[in-house]
Amino acid sequence: MKDLHKIVAPLLEWYDGHARILPWREMPAPYRVWVSEIMLQQTRVEAVKPYFERFIQALPTIQDLAEAPEDKLLKLWEGLGYYNRVRNMQKAAKILVEKYQGEMPQDYDSILALPGIGSYTAGAIASIAFGMRRPAVDGNVLRVLSRLEKSYDDILKQSVRKHFEKEILEVIPGERAGDFNQSLIELGAIVCVPNGTPKCMECPLAKLCAAHADGVELELPKKTPPARRKMEDITVLVLVSDNKAALHKREEKGLLAGLYELPNLKGHRNREEVLTFVKEQGLSPIRIQELPPAKHIFSHIEWHMAGYAVKVEEPQNGNLRTKEFFFAEKEEMERKYSIPSAFSAYMRYFREKY
Ligand code: ADE
Ligand code: SF4
Repeated sequence: MKDLHKIVAPLLEWYDGHARILPWREMPAPYRVWVSEIMLQQTRVEAVKPYFERFIQALPTIQDLAEAPEDKLLKLWEGLGYYNRVRNMQKAAKILVEKYQGEMPQDYDSILALPGIGSYTAGAIASIAFGMRRPAVDGNVLRVLSRLEKSYDDILKQSVRKHFEKEILEVIPGERAGDFNQSLIELGAIVCVPNGTPKCMECPLAKLCAAHADGVELELPKKTPPARRKMEDITVLVLVSDNKAALHKREEKGLLAGLYELPNLKGHRNREEVLTFVKEQGLSPIRIQELPPAKHIFSHIEWHMAGYAVKVEEPQNGNLRTKEFFFAEKEEMERKYSIPSAFSAYMRYFREKY
């Protein structure tokens, strides 16, 4: 867009008066900016706040993150989802400890080279923490810019993002690069909103906005529809003995890798099939109860879950453990094992009943 520099002054003025007070904005150290931006990638600001505070308290430095045991790390992330985000952060932290004395390097290309850091996050860290003139174009910014310029280009295309990054780079003010980037993000988050009608009456860019001028703001941005999710039927078991429930550690690869789960079987199973399975594990069922079905939506998969609670005998030798499962108390589950929210309907049953 030819006059894009005109957005800078009104945006910064608006930001000074309207920006939300957020914990990572108060003290924009590189590590804090990094952690917050990774958390914010798939999660709303309000949901992120408590996770952010807890994470920074538990792991106050990059070195602490590099050295954290995996279970502790996953526990801190429990409920945020997309766990590869935090695994990649730890990989990056290890590199920072090895190569940069545990500090974020003040160099854009070195930041961009770290695992889990793409052009958006690298730009956010470089501009917000170091004041460097680098664009930070996320979904919020893509929405604002496509409306502002009345662009019908598909914002999910890399080429379109690159185009907007290049345009933004040309107008970032040298003195307030981080604030400028955040003002665009913030405008997208609270004024030029994604769901529902943008609040053009409150928008500092309304006079410059081509979509608003033509009344087409709701048609934009354009996105290719995402691929349909795969449906998967599974049967989840709350296997209880002595007030403990069975857990299983998932494989180190694939969906929810390395996390703990309630035992489950592919497909929707009936009582007989479940009882047979439980016996095959070397356990002796006492009674079985069907639980209400539940559903969980991941980005590419949807789980449709049938559930059973199965009470099993305490073993004679007191050794509560099978080849696949171990049994844990409620308190232990809360403290130690990260159980993804996909299982929350059945975990709630266990928590309330035992
Ligand atoms: N969403 C992504 N990054 C953000 C930030 N820095 N402030 C507010 N919302 C955000
Ligand atoms: Fe978005 Fe409306 Fe502002 Fe245009 S005028 S940038 S559509 S809020």
